[in-house]
Amino acid sequence: MRFAINERNFVRQGTQQEHYDQLSRALHWITALVVTIAFVLGPGGFGRLMRQGMDPAARLDIVWHESLGVLVLALTVTRVIWAALRPAAPRFAMARWMCLASQLVQGCLWFLLLALPCTAFLALGSEGHPLTLLNGFRIDQMPWIAKSPIANLADWGDVHGILGDMLMWLAGLHAGAAIFHHAVLKDGVLAAMLKGRNAA
Ligand code: HEM
Repeated sequence: MRFAINERNFVRQGTQQEHYDQLSRALHWITALVVTIAFVLGPGGFGRLMRQGMDPAARLDIVWHESLGVLVLALTVTRVIWAALRPAAPRFAMARWMCLASQLVQGCLWFLLLALPCTAFLALGSEGHPLTLLNGFRIDQMPWIAKSPIANLADWGDVHGILGDMLMWLAGLHAGAAIFHHAVLKDGVLAAMLKGRNAA
């Protein structure tokens, strides 16, 4: 266990554990992998292709993108529930600005992980496009979305694409900060998400 630091500009630590639990670590790294693959498969020119009469079920990249995106939503909801139930997350002594910056980035990441699937459903539902997933699963119409008051507030396909780019930029910043903690500050922040207590 580490000791609390009281000096001004440093965050009090009061930590009980130095590593995330196994489920939190697994969900974190699976989400990182699935989001990256979903991003790479993001279907550019989707609206144009749909206007040309394409059936998205015939495009494996789109089917995989939507299936992985739905998986990201399921993973994120599971993580939110688990974050409320799990043992307290480890905390590390660091400069206050660093702590605030990390909380801001992590808050934005949580928001984007939930907003991306929501905007995708809004895009499909408001434009009358089908949701096409692996194993032939499809939903042709989503009238509850098409009729909702927010359906026409924006071009949700554009919003979805912009949020997808933002998520990857922020995830890159988040990963860069973790590497900085590991290589320069050597404070165990990255190790907390890599290893369990027994492997420490
Ligand atoms: C975290 C998960 C996701 C990420 C990172 C992501 C990322 C992206 C990106 C970057 C694009 C734009 C591609 C481009 O313009 O080159 C895109 C487009 C698209 N995504 Fe996703 N997406 C995610 C989840 C989903 C989900 C859950 C669905 C379906 C329910 C979905 C359906 C679509 C569709 C239909 C488009 C085309 C939108 C349009 O242009 O109208 N995505 N996605």
